[in-house]
Amino acid sequence: MKASGVLTGGLVLTLCSSTLAKGIDEFTFSCETLTIQRSDPIMFPGKTAGHVHIVAGGTAFQQTMDIDTATKANETTCGVVIDKSNYWIPQLYHRAKNGAFELVENDGNVVYYLNRACNYTEGATSCDGSDGAIAPPAGLRVVAGDTNRRTYDDADFAQRATTHMCIGEDGSSSETNNMPNKPCAKLRSQVFLPSCWDGQNIDSKDHRSHMAYPASGDYNSGVCPKSHPVAILSIFLEFFFNTHPFPDHDNWVYSNGDATGYGLHGDYINGWEDQVALGNAMKTCTGPKLLNDPKCSLTKHQKRPLTPVKQTPEIAASEEEIGQNGRVLQLPGHNLAKS
Ligand SMILES: *[C@@H]1O[C@H](CO)[C@@H](O)[C@H](O)[C@H]1NC(C)=O
Ligand SMILES: *[C@@H]1O[C@H](CO)[C@@H](O)[C@H](O)[C@H]1NC(C)=O
Repeated sequence: MKASGVLTGGLVLTLCSSTLAKGIDEFTFSCETLTIQRSDPIMFPGKTAGHVHIVAGGTAFQQTMDIDTATKANETTCGVVIDKSNYWIPQLYHRAKNGAFELVENDGNVVYYLNRACNYTEGATSCDGSDGAIAPPAGLRVVAGDTNRRTYDDADFAQRATTHMCIGEDGSSSETNNMPNKPCAKLRSQVFLPSCWDGQNIDSKDHRSHMAYPASGDYNSGVCPKSHPVAILSIFLEFFFNTHPFPDHDNWVYSNGDATGYGLHGDYINGWEDQVALGNAMKTCTGPKLLNDPKCSLTKHQKRPLTPVKQTPEIAASEEEIGQNGRVLQLPGHNLAKS
């Protein structure tokens, strides 16, 4: 932000309010898994998807989702009741010695919303002094990562944005973009969604080009590019898998046949019931109690605790065998497990 901006009323107000009632720059909540099924209403609308996804959030999740289907869900698996969004990534499998595949059990999911990116400003290379990423627009659909990727380019923010946290039996943790090459008590599959929006489209033909990663900074913070000038709250997804029973990490493979880990991807449909509440979260969910603060716009009308809740989808998944009753001979969709 230019120095002259210091004298504008808006910024003075920001400085005051940040001294008096400090805003937060992130909030987070947990979500139970809603369903594991071969569906992807963004990439394969109305059809069976190419591979199995693990899905959290609103109970309206189904193969055909209109612009407001998510928002109208009756319930959510997430701790914040007004969040009927859906979040999903490919399911993790373990390839047994006989070549069959078994589901790696999910061990919880966490969603973060972060105030990290800022609007495009000519010449700006950092967000110093400016804040105010807006809520993701109603109905926004986002795809991050690429199911077909099997190689890695560290210079590409989009590729840096999908990561794996290997949590060891001793509690230590290490992060890689590839699938960990050592045993992990838990594997945390992580996707940081792009934070910059074109300001106009809530989806696009390739489901990607309406969104972008920052032009400066890194995949998880910085100034938005001119092509996608509007900074929205960044969304970061963590899906935990219990890999403790499977120390043979070479046999971990995602449902899309990817054992490299570079084909990890994450999808989002905005289903927040109250956009204004979402936009006010960083200013109101403050103090030591965060989401339990009585002023918190996200939870002030919430009756139940922030504990995530088990739910089933309103529209049941097809009966396809995806490993829920024991090992399957092939990855559903016949995705070859190539590494
Ligand atoms: C960024 O741009 C959006 C869309 O024009 C606007 O609503 C928002 O207030 C801007 N943010 C800041 C901090 O100026
Ligand atoms: C969801 O809510 C609608 C409207 O209240 C109701 O008709 C329907 O039975 C509910 N579905 C489930 C699965 O609870």
